[in-house]
Amino acid sequence: MTAPAPGRLRPVIAIDGPAGAGKSTLAAYLARCFGFLNLETGAMYRALALKALEDATPLDDEAALARLTEYTQIVLEPRPNDSNRVLLDGRDVTARVREKDVAQAASQVSVHPRVRAWMVARQRAMGAQGGVVMEGRDIGTQVFPDAEVKIFLDASDAVRGQRRFLQEAQSSDAPSEEAVLAAVRDRDARDRGRASSPLEPAPDAVLLDSSAWTLEQVCARAEELVRAKIFT
Ligand code: DC
Repeated sequence: MTAPAPGRLRPVIAIDGPAGAGKSTLAAYLARCFGFLNLETGAMYRALALKALEDATPLDDEAALARLTEYTQIVLEPRPNDSNRVLLDGRDVTARVREKDVAQAASQVSVHPRVRAWMVARQRAMGAQGGVVMEGRDIGTQVFPDAEVKIFLDASDAVRGQRRFLQEAQSSDAPSEEAVLAAVRDRDARDRGRASSPLEPAPDAVLLDSSAWTLEQVCARAEELVRAKIFT
């Protein structure tokens, strides 16, 4: 069994990967399996992006966004079998941060190093005791480079676009499959291409590609990995 890193009581499971690869489903599953808290760091970037949109702070103005963080409080509340509840300055923005305009804005605010530094400091504090599954883009590379388990979950553009399309197909203003795929590619290009902490696997991450697998198969494989790494 891998002992938790010094200072931590329990292990950290880091899950990174692009939009639509199935990270949230996998993170929720592993948190349930092992009795860990599930923290969705993307929701923090989304919450800050929402504040910037409401405040008319330009998304490309790093200094203005850094000032915004000085009077911003973002709280993630893990809920069993559900996504995190997201509180922005005490206001419940859980549903609002899932909307498309906020998703695109989150990708834009997340390119700025000062925004990332603010987020990373908070995420480290949130996971300091361990016992967390933390999901995002830079968890294994920046937030917890010493995480006991690191998984990089990927899938082809076409599969990820289709999954997102099926998720959004229920809404009344559902976009076309082409439009969803274009939005996924646009966000990916920004997340992978940014200079500061681009989306990339940590050298010691286990790579899982869910293109040809159901999410149930991915979860079962990841559960085996975690058991082998920290519980045997
Ligand atoms: O996981 P998500 O779709 O909720 O993430 C929203 C955006 O936030 C995504 O486009 C990239 C950014 N993000 C990031 O840069 N680093 C993280 N750890 C999590 C998300």
